[in-house]
Amino acid sequence: TERTFAMIKPDGVRRGLTAEILRRIELKGYRTVGLKLYQIPRETAESHYGEHSAKPFFGELVDFITSGPVVAIALEGENAIAGWRSMMGATNPANAAPGTIRGDFATSVGENVTHGSDSPESAQRELALFFAEGELLK
Ligand code: GTP
Ligand code: MG
Repeated sequence: TERTFAMIKPDGVRRGLTAEILRRIELKGYRTVGLKLYQIPRETAESHYGEHSAKPFFGELVDFITSGPVVAIALEGENAIAGWRSMMGATNPANAAPGTIRGDFATSVGENVTHGSDSPESAQRELALFFAEGELLK
């Protein structure tokens, strides 16, 4: 079993998709071990997206992710890292299959509703960035 960091981005919260996304996570069978509504501080956003700091859209990315509250989620389950990414669908919603979250609910690569860690290293780093130890279930 492994843990991953999932997030409902500000567009998802604004559009009222929180319950639908949490519903899909519960139906899938992942165990939610951390959950909070969170306004990301700018420094945390810059650190979270550090790998993209040289990209032309970095400023836009940080502005967007701090534009309103997100729902930060820690998930646990067998193969949860890849499994959650497959539930989200492709980064660009134009390529995301119907049935995935981005395929069903997004049209823009900049506002693609959810985030998921892309490796065990990212999961560990992002969980530590978004949750204090006491906020996660054992
Ligand atoms: P995350 O789960 O959000 O990390 O998405 P990802 O892992 O599928 O994609 P990646 O880490 O490569 O990119 C991070 C985020 O940057 C994406 O989710 C997009 O929202 C955003 N992004 C990627 N490419 C572009 C782009 O060309 N323009 C803009 N505005 N945003 C982009
Ligand atoms: Mg990513």
